[in-house]
Amino acid sequence: MKKTETKIFSTLAIPDELAADLRTLGNLEMWTEDVPMPNEQLTIQLKDCQALLCSGSNRITAEMMSACPKLKVIANVSVGYDNIDVDAATKAGILVTNTPGVLDNATADMAFALLLAVARRLVEADQYVRSGQWQGFHPSLMLGHEITGKVLGIVGMGRIGEAMARRARGFGMEVIYTRRGGQEKDERLNEQYSARRVSLGELLKNSDFISLHCPLSPTTRHLIGRVEFSQMKKTAILINTSRGGVINEAELVSAIAEKSIAGAGLDVFEFEPEVNAQLLTFSNVVLAPHIASATNDTRLAMKRLAIKNLIAALDGGNPPNAINKKNESTVTIAVPATP
Ligand code: DGY
Repeated sequence: MKKTETKIFSTLAIPDELAADLRTLGNLEMWTEDVPMPNEQLTIQLKDCQALLCSGSNRITAEMMSACPKLKVIANVSVGYDNIDVDAATKAGILVTNTPGVLDNATADMAFALLLAVARRLVEADQYVRSGQWQGFHPSLMLGHEITGKVLGIVGMGRIGEAMARRARGFGMEVIYTRRGGQEKDERLNEQYSARRVSLGELLKNSDFISLHCPLSPTTRHLIGRVEFSQMKKTAILINTSRGGVINEAELVSAIAEKSIAGAGLDVFEFEPEVNAQLLTFSNVVLAPHIASATNDTRLAMKRLAIKNLIAALDGGNPPNAINKKNESTVTIAVPATP
């Protein structure tokens, strides 16, 4: 295909230094507003595009793909890809890629920041001082949860889970974890983080802090619900920087209201950007607007990696981070990437 015939659309602003690479391949257009691009508009825009750069806030559906017959590659600027109907993409011969590895530290930083903020009542304390309620030092003012020596349960010991384990070890915590897959990595993980692989039930029962790092899939949707909350310690604090749908949010609200757990730190929500109104009323819940990987460096690295994937796909090869793989005549699902 001639360069002038290739059309690339990005739902995110691409800085000039990266856009230059894409412009060597074809015509690049992008959405530069600060709000997610509406799907109807995106579908119209994509009608004669070969390549799409998008983020988790764009829901790429089967209907959309069938309305965009020229689409060859969807490069998600995100490690999670639950926003894309990968089965439909595969059937339509469209490659899907993600951005693993470049956001592990930023995401784990946020997970740990939420853990500290809930445990040490940081947001509540800030509001207390700002509202002029503080009368002076008092030894029992705003007592929180100790972190050193406590057990952190990591659900999903992939790359981000490991980055979380590194931070936890630095804070003198004991690490237990669950992960999918065989036992081949367990010896290294156990040794490196003085950690132990356990069942989900054991993790829920023994953890003082639980941090979720698994992708959202049909198997992990509502992984944490009423039964799981009832297995946790009453003093447990739950942190979620993975995907909102991994937790049954209505059951989380009940668990907090009934004091069946001690608090939660949430960067992601089941029905983003809607947040359950009751969650807003709890002082022991700290909320963030899906910003775990939002640092300048990490966002740039994610865009760079997504563009590398997109270029490889347009060149006719298999991109380094393909979720589904291309062969002679078709596209098949590859082993899913572990975030
Ligand atoms: C990711 O990369 O999955 C982050 O949640 C941003 O979408």
